Amino acid sequence: MKTLTLTRPDDWHLHVRNGEMLKTVIPHTVRQFARAIIMPNLKPPVTTVIQALAYRDEILRAIPDHLLFNPLMTLYLTAQTPASEIKKVAESEHVHAFKLYPAGATTNSDAGVGNVKTIYPLLEAMQNHDIPLLIHGEVTDERVDIFDRERVFIEDSLIDITRQFPNLRLVVEHVTTQEAVQFVLSSGPNIAATITPQHLLFNRNAILAGGIRPHYYCLPVIKREHHRLALVAAATSANPKFFLGTDSAPHHTSLKENACGCAGCYSAHAALELYAEAFEQADALDKLEGFASFYGPDFYRLPRNNGTVTLERATWKVPERYGENDLSITPLKANEELRWKIQ
Ligand code: DOR
Ligand code: ZN
Repeated sequence: MKTLTLTRPDDWHLHVRNGEMLKTVIPHTVRQFARAIIMPNLKPPVTTVIQALAYRDEILRAIPDHLLFNPLMTLYLTAQTPASEIKKVAESEHVHAFKLYPAGATTNSDAGVGNVKTIYPLLEAMQNHDIPLLIHGEVTDERVDIFDRERVFIEDSLIDITRQFPNLRLVVEHVTTQEAVQFVLSSGPNIAATITPQHLLFNRNAILAGGIRPHYYCLPVIKREHHRLALVAAATSANPKFFLGTDSAPHHTSLKENACGCAGCYSAHAALELYAEAFEQADALDKLEGFASFYGPDFYRLPRNNGTVTLERATWKVPERYGENDLSITPLKANEELRWKIQ
């Protein structure tokens, strides 16, 4: 196959930051995706509809003139979120979901939720208003091994949330384990998951074998090979519960190549190309369009996009960096070759 034309896709989990970083990264996303669910973990976090609309305007101002892109905003859920804010989200055209970060689980999650049970009244309100809840599914208990934190979160919190709120629409973001795939498969149609390119393409050897590679470090951390295989099987199964969410999370190179490097892989520069590699390896390129362009909008109850994007079979080398000097970002697969290219 020399070219592959897909209905224009969307990214259902994306970090674009703000300020100068936003200007560097947003053109990469706009080049391939029509819409993206924008994560709210700025400093300070985006907790109100008013803040989300101001952030949305900043994103729109950073987009090159001729390109169309719709940022789909989310609010950062905290123990202090008032019920009135949930009603405002329900009435908003531009805010589509709440994001739940367990406090301390990842980058800028300090304002997240300590004990999930304390916010059950908010989850009930979301269920009543039919607003999706997007979950970073990891426990933060230091006694739990970092490679087990997703599985333990499912056992300790997710199962109970889905029992208490059986009609709550919920996305288990960036699933990384066989257990998470199994949980989603065994739940109702209101439970879905996003899958990142790095978790489809790599296992934990990429981070640790033959040297420590900080650009492969993200949270939840990349797991063992059998987990990767479970994710590939889910993504290529044409099951509408699994759809594209890159979790592209830019950090300056100096903060990644650091004694205490930040979590996050930058993949927006080649997101669709990276997914195409993963689907091709699984001999499932015919399943890419559903995963990238159909199941996400169906879950969020938004129309599928009209346009198309075409990938061609052409080798190109990913640059070493994007952006200037101290503000540069090292992309996933920097200096390596990719086999697909967007026309
Ligand atoms: O690796 C990650 N980076 N995981 C997250 O959940 C957050 C993200 C970020 O914002 O950098
Ligand atoms: Zn994320």
